[in-house]
This record gives sequence, C-alpha cells and structure tokens, in this order.
Amino acid sequence: MSEKQGFSSSFGAIMAAVGSAVGLGNIWRFPYIMGQYGGGAFLLVYLAFVFLIGMVLMMTEFVMGRRSQHTPPQAFVSLRPDRKGWRFLGYLCVFTCLMIISQYVVISGWTVNYMSDSASGVMATISATGMAEHFQSFVSHPWHPVLFLYIFTLITAVIILGGVQKGIEAVSKVLMPILLLLVIILCVRSVTLPNSSIGLAYLFSPDFSHLSAEGVLAALGQALFSLSVGMGTMIVYGSYIPENDNIFKTSLMITASDTLIAVLAGVAIFPAVFSFGQKPAGGPGLVFQVLPTVFNSMGTVGTIFAVLFFLLLALAALTSAISLLETIVAWLCESSSCGRKAATLIVSSVVLIIGALCALAYGPLDSFHVLGDNLFDFVDKLNSIYLPPICAIGTVIFLGWQMKKEDVIDELSNHGSITTGYFPFYYFLVRFVAPIALLVVLFTGIYNSLQ
Ligand code: PHE
Repeated sequence: MSEKQGFSSSFGAIMAAVGSAVGLGNIWRFPYIMGQYGGGAFLLVYLAFVFLIGMVLMMTEFVMGRRSQHTPPQAFVSLRPDRKGWRFLGYLCVFTCLMIISQYVVISGWTVNYMSDSASGVMATISATGMAEHFQSFVSHPWHPVLFLYIFTLITAVIILGGVQKGIEAVSKVLMPILLLLVIILCVRSVTLPNSSIGLAYLFSPDFSHLSAEGVLAALGQALFSLSVGMGTMIVYGSYIPENDNIFKTSLMITASDTLIAVLAGVAIFPAVFSFGQKPAGGPGLVFQVLPTVFNSMGTVGTIFAVLFFLLLALAALTSAISLLETIVAWLCESSSCGRKAATLIVSSVVLIIGALCALAYGPLDSFHVLGDNLFDFVDKLNSIYLPPICAIGTVIFLGWQMKKEDVIDELSNHGSITTGYFPFYYFLVRFVAPIALLVVLFTGIYNSLQ
C-alpha cells in the first residue's frame, strides 16, 4: 500500500477541488441549459440546489473522506464496521467514476483537436455551413478522436503519477488562476461586441415560462455533476484535506467558485453568439459548431480567441479528469498491493480501452448497440440518469442515518475547536431534503428514459 499523502495547504486543497468541480460541465453544459430553461429563472433554481443540496453533498463526502482517511469502499466500511454491505456502494462510486471518465476523455479529446485545428488555421478555412459537417466527419473518423483522447488521457495519467502534492495540487494551483484569467479575457471580449446585450438578456432575464419541471430536474442534476459530487471523488479529495481546515468554509468557497465560473462561461459565450447573428444551440453543437463560426467571424483575432477558448475548455476538463482518475487509482492502491505507478498504468489502460470504444461509437462502431443505444449514448445514460443519483442517495443516507451524529459534528467542528451553528440545518438537509430530492431525480429520469 502506498503511503498516505494529502494536500499541503488549504489553498492547494481548494484549488484541487475547484479544479475537479470546474470542467466541461461548467463551460459547455451549464450555459446552454441555462439559456434553454429560462435564463435567470433557471439560475435562481440552480443556486438553491447548488447550495442546499450540492454543497451539502460536498460537505458530506469531505466529512467521510477526512474522517476515514480511505477511498470509497473502505471509507464506508471503516465508518460503519458492523455493516460491511455498504462497501458495495463504494464499489459503485468507483465504477461510476470509471464510466464518467471514459466518456469525459472522449469530449476532452474533441476539445484538444479543436484547439490544435484552431491554432493551425484549419478552423479558419471552414465556412459557417461546413461546421456541422466538419464536426461530424471528425467524430466519425476511424482513429482521429481516439488519438486525441489518448493524448488527453496520457497527460492526465502523467499528472497522477506525480502524486497528490507534486502532481494534482501543483498543477491545480497553476492552472486554476490561468483558467480564471482566460474566462475573464473571453468575457470582456464578448460583452464589448456590438449588440452583446441581446446575449446577456437571453442568459439572465428570468423567463419562468421556460422553466419546466424538466428544467428544475436538470438544475439539480447539473448542480451535482458540476460540483463533482455523488461518485466518491470528494471522499478521496476529502481524505487529502488538511486536518484543521474548516469543511464548511472550504465547501462554500468551492461551490461559489464553481458557480461563478459557470455563469462567467455563459457571459463569455452568449453575447458573442448573438452578436454575430448565430443561434444558440444545445449539446455539442454550441461549442463545436456555433462557437467556431463566431470565432471565424472575428477575423484574425478570432483565431487567438478560438485557441484561448478551447485551451480553457481543455484545461478545465484536465483538472476534472485528474480527480476522476485519482479516485480510481487511489482505490486500487488501497485495495491491492499495487503502487501508484502500477495502479495509474492499469487504470489508464482501462480508460483508454473503454474511452476508445465510446469514441468510435460515432464512427466504425455505430452499429454496435447496447440496449438500443450506441455505446457513447449508453454510457451517457448511465452517467446522467442512473449512477450518480444512486451513489448520491446512498451517500447522504449513509451519513444521515448510519454514521454517529457525534462523529459528524466532531469532524465538522475539527474536534470541537470551531463552531458549527449551521449543523442542525445541514443535518436536516442531509437526512430528509437531499434523499427525497435525489429520489425524485432518479425516478423521473428513469421514467422519462423509458418513455
Ligand atoms: N465537475 C466536472 C464538470 O463540471 C465533472 C466531474 C464530475 C468531475 C464528477 C469529477 C467527478 O465538468
């Protein structure tokens, strides 16, 4: 077993966790679902969920990780040694991380490809009408998407090999400030374009008529995914948090930073989209088709902004992928005789295989279907409808109903040295509100997918 390491400072811990939280979910997914479900109206609901349920889950995972000093399966067992069955929930968390990262590296690979195509000038030669075709021919190519996901996964693995402090923490401390700077540069460019107010209005003016029940559920799902909670990642990072850090304050800072970056990403994207007369699209279309057209309309400076934008996306994705890979690697190190090196090698190889199969689902493997979907869409369903809500429900029930209340208070108060006046409210949310809300998300998701 490898020696237990942790983050060296509170700042390092926060940067690493913000790195995990800020990812494709913030820059790609959040802006378009916010636009789609009523702008400011969606934002209000999202804010409520992100602070009342997402942050509560983050605190829960941090408490479990720091108290147990273990990765998910062992964390459940050591916190409740008389109920060993809970370890299966831990295995499910690790499996969920594997499924998420295998899909995540595919999209991250697309991002790296778009960055290199923007830098080399290839993107600038593609007309607005050719963008969709360009995207389609890239994702269905027999090996290009695989090559880029391999590059991305290898970079992630090299950082994991560096270890918790010299790898994850060191990289996050450098990348997170760069990322913030990039978002701000792109926001300034976007809001100073002519007619940028149309995009800002699209994003922010609260239109409650677009906020359907579906939008409310999407807000909760997005809140969990965006904060990287509900799959044990924050249990592992929690075990690295310095002993005297205030879990409540740390979680609050991470949640606020994650939300701020998501909103700024919207500000960087929509004013520019409207300013150049484009229509906001959902899904991959927005980032991989509409935005490149917008950048092309900006002339030569557009190339610079395109490279900066895809770099931003790739860096955000990198620090998120690091946390997913770390969760699985840390688990393997803990539960076998593997050292960090061997574990990283094994886990990355598995990710490369499943990732490649997912990537090829839009190309040579598109006729290979699992339960009616191609492999990418099948994994996407697992990752959005089934696995995270199930793991999240189990986690809140575990802390709320299986762990001793005094132990939770002891961990949140750093053994009685800081006040925890918020505890009764937190405990109420963990025991009742979060499980009920998550059950609603799970059942509605399953119901809708079977329709
Ligand atoms: N939070 C990341 C994002 O917004 C994704 C992620 C989910 C990372 C779960 C780690 C664990 O893109």
